Amino acid sequence: MASSLNRREWLRRSALAAVGLGAAPELFARPLISSAVFQRECASRISPLAAVRAKLDANENPWGPSDKARQALIEGIGQGNRYAFRELFALRGGIATRDGVKGDHILLGAGSSELLAAGINAYAKGKIMLAQTCYISDGMMGEFPMDKVALTADFHYDLDAMATKADPAIHSLVYVCNPNNPTGQILPADKLRKFIDDVSPKVPILIDEAYIDYAADPKAESMVDKVREGKNVIILRTFSKLHAFAGLRVGYALAKPALLKVIEPFTQQGFGVSVTSAAAGLAALKDTEFQQMTLRNTAESKQILLDGLKKLGYEPLPSSANFVLFPIKMKGQQLQSQLAREGVYVRHWFFNQQPWCRVSIGTADEMKAFVESFAKVVS
Ligand SMILES: Cc1ncc(COP(=O)(O)O)c(C=O)c1O
Repeated sequence: MASSLNRREWLRRSALAAVGLGAAPELFARPLISSAVFQRECASRISPLAAVRAKLDANENPWGPSDKARQALIEGIGQGNRYAFRELFALRGGIATRDGVKGDHILLGAGSSELLAAGINAYAKGKIMLAQTCYISDGMMGEFPMDKVALTADFHYDLDAMATKADPAIHSLVYVCNPNNPTGQILPADKLRKFIDDVSPKVPILIDEAYIDYAADPKAESMVDKVREGKNVIILRTFSKLHAFAGLRVGYALAKPALLKVIEPFTQQGFGVSVTSAAAGLAALKDTEFQQMTLRNTAESKQILLDGLKKLGYEPLPSSANFVLFPIKMKGQQLQSQLAREGVYVRHWFFNQQPWCRVSIGTADEMKAFVESFAKVVS
């Protein structure tokens, strides 16, 4: 891999070899994020910054990146003329130590989106089982066969129904987002572990843990122990949330090497992470002080939001993430547009015959701006 051309050719060949030449164009036609969704998302996000009072539509972290990550980014620029082998190995080593897995159980990506799209592309030969309401929405990653299972009455994943349904003759993957986006709810860890034990011998399970760092006890609630046990489980993690890397693009998959091999051909095999982001990622991983500060601030801001909503008579679902979802009494699009006119950006949903509003946790000032504008719009 002496030159970029060789590297690109190597990536291309390994991808084509894995899927067979004929199948490749169709599989690669499934985009990371469809252009329609991209345009819709951007429409609400490209306002001049000065006009944004509260950016609460993408579950970002308003307090970072940390000073240590910024310093590593600046120092990393000096390596910008080199491929990132050393930095990627170092980052992988840091993650391996933190998560208690071997380096060969980790695959890096330019955010977890790259790895999620790879998982979908690699496994979309049969149906992908997922919850009716979860991070993957219709058309978001192009068209692929889905089997959607309704949430329970209290808006949790219906693991019992999913376990009963899971059939290797029909399903090629189960996707579980935990904590779930947009509901923010986390599954009882013992129940999810049992689900993995029962279902993963039949159908592999992809667990999206983008928000696990915000859980009450991330170590106990993450399913990484099932990776260590050698189960048929792929876990996705991102630096976009706790580490505030949404624009820097670092994510990773945790799985046994045999499973990583299945999705790897649909990724850039780690090289999607730039030399600067890899160096900053390692610094962020070690910066536990910043992580604790983010968690403290998130809890304080969340309380401001919850108090404000309660006063106005709105009742959110319990949230184990850096966002809150609650049912609203007007059309979601109308609420979203009216708030945007106030410089307050949120997202709306419709499920269970009910419109909902999702508010990301921002700074205390952003929470106050949201509560003030929301009260005005709904009055
Ligand atoms: C559940 C979930 N998974 C994955 C992602 C993608 O994150 P990224 O590509 O920034 O790592 C997001 C982003 O908001 C998310 O909410």
